Amino acid sequence: MCGIIGFTGKQPALPFLLQGLSRLEYRGYDSAGVTLVNSKALRTWKTKGRLSELEKLLSKDLAESCGIGHTRWATHGVPSNMNAHPHMNEEGTISVVHNGIVENYQELREELREEGYIFHSETDSEVIVQLLDFYYRKNPVMKEALAKTVKRLEGSYAICVTSIFEPDTIYVSKKESPMVLGQSKEGTFCASDAPAFLEYTREILPLQDGQSAILNAGSLEVFDASGKQIEPRWIHFPYDVQAAQKGGYDSFMLKEIHEQPSVIRETLRGRFRGTKTVLPMIDQMNVRWDRIDQTVFIACGTAYHACIYANLLYQKYTGKVSWVIPASEFRYCSPNVNEHTLCIFVSQSGETADTLAAIKLAKAKGCVTISVVNVLGSSISRMTDAVLYTAAGPEIAVASTKAYTTQLVLLHVLVLKLAEMYGIKVKGKSRLISDLKRLPEVTEQVLGQEEKMKELAGMLIDQRDAYFIGRQLDYPTALEGALKLKEISYVHADAYYAGELKHGPIALIEKDTVVTAMATQPEVASKTVSNIRETIARGARVILITGENMPAEEFEYVVRIPEISPELAAIPSAVLLQMFAYYGAKEKGCDIDKPRNLAKSVTVE
Ligand code: G6P
Repeated sequence: MCGIIGFTGKQPALPFLLQGLSRLEYRGYDSAGVTLVNSKALRTWKTKGRLSELEKLLSKDLAESCGIGHTRWATHGVPSNMNAHPHMNEEGTISVVHNGIVENYQELREELREEGYIFHSETDSEVIVQLLDFYYRKNPVMKEALAKTVKRLEGSYAICVTSIFEPDTIYVSKKESPMVLGQSKEGTFCASDAPAFLEYTREILPLQDGQSAILNAGSLEVFDASGKQIEPRWIHFPYDVQAAQKGGYDSFMLKEIHEQPSVIRETLRGRFRGTKTVLPMIDQMNVRWDRIDQTVFIACGTAYHACIYANLLYQKYTGKVSWVIPASEFRYCSPNVNEHTLCIFVSQSGETADTLAAIKLAKAKGCVTISVVNVLGSSISRMTDAVLYTAAGPEIAVASTKAYTTQLVLLHVLVLKLAEMYGIKVKGKSRLISDLKRLPEVTEQVLGQEEKMKELAGMLIDQRDAYFIGRQLDYPTALEGALKLKEISYVHADAYYAGELKHGPIALIEKDTVVTAMATQPEVASKTVSNIRETIARGARVILITGENMPAEEFEYVVRIPEISPELAAIPSAVLLQMFAYYGAKEKGCDIDKPRNLAKSVTVE
């Protein structure tokens, strides 16, 4: 999960590389490096730390017009100058940046050591440049050497190569790690993600697994796995560069929180005709829906919380058997799944390794697969039988916000659609649909409570721990609220079913402990209220999030969400908790967009 960029053009490459890397820092930021190339030498600078550390090493007047860059999230070897990319061969004639994991790197290292190669880093990636050197010496044709090299790699990779042998040329290749290409009047680009060069072109070419490409200032050739040149398939990137920048907010996270009314609107656009859902990709699936006897919701992190929500809805609306499991567990739980099982995968990035591995298993077992994904053309979107896209746009902050709420919304539509496919009538469907359509406006109203959430977040300043409780559809919200807070503020935060508190966790409550309770579900709200009283009796300060008409006069800190069907309350509640976490972290002076130890896209298992 690193960020890689390459540029070759007629003007200095460095500004393009640095700008691209700054847009890719969300993919990892424990070290950074660049190589600039001319016919006499490769010049490489790399360092542990953020991009700003690298910039300190570079003079502004470097004129080379071709180069590659990397921002790293360590997987093999600690963050250090030596482990930072690019990696070079011994003579300094070939330079490589890599994103992914070379699983057989130990064997390859041994083999190359026997050939006299010396390794300087602890990374798996260094074998790539040494293998390239090995094959290039045998036959000095870089395209061939790269093809032979990638054939030897087990695992995942997106690779960019430069060399003094062809100083204006970048070679790229990819498998299971993302790589997009672009061309503009400035030159030719490759990168892990389109925002790296979106300023210059919105026509992008996502490279497919097994493909490789040769980039020059004015040309771009793409090859399939057999080395045959193929016609590139360009797509129009639907967002402009503004969408991938902060747009005046303090941080990407705050900007993304505020984008929710519009991205929810986009996600819902055209999804209903009267009381029928419109999801043609589900209609087009060749599935005997009457034979589906169980459904599994599978994802990681925030997307897993969206799955918990969807699973509860699915059971409520269809009465059918379903379960939910983190993708990292699915493979190892000996799942009893088969061609009568529907597996639904949820992912913002579409590149999460655990989720990809779970899809492979589900497919091997013959399951029907659907994905709910945010990134167009991503690996997950290509692997399932059908894909539904959330329209959250690029989500840059590591802590997921708008991707989560758009997942909840789209999963809701999908569950309604599945009920239609099964011929099941959902009670109160027309009200649900009109409330779904009201969500952008409801979210806007909730954003109006920002000052209040900021004030309440002030309670967290001296706290080491915080707790979130809820029942039923409030439970995934509690989990997500706790995750947001721990991710960005490092306050230890846990979520519990409100009814479980008394069976253990209540031992942790002491004077002034901050507990956030959700009570938006009329059927169980009074029970949650009893649990709140129990914690207040032990000295807790409780923030209660509840509906417009719920009685809550007895409590000191109450935040109300606008009137909405209880099945949809999780969306405005999540927005409140995102603001709570944001201001809690801000109060503590944390680096909100780049929390320690985390990465936006986790492409290792
Ligand atoms: C990482 C991110 C989380 C995200 C999870 C799943 O851990 O930090 O925010 O929820 O991956 O990512 P996905 O892209 O599959 O939704």
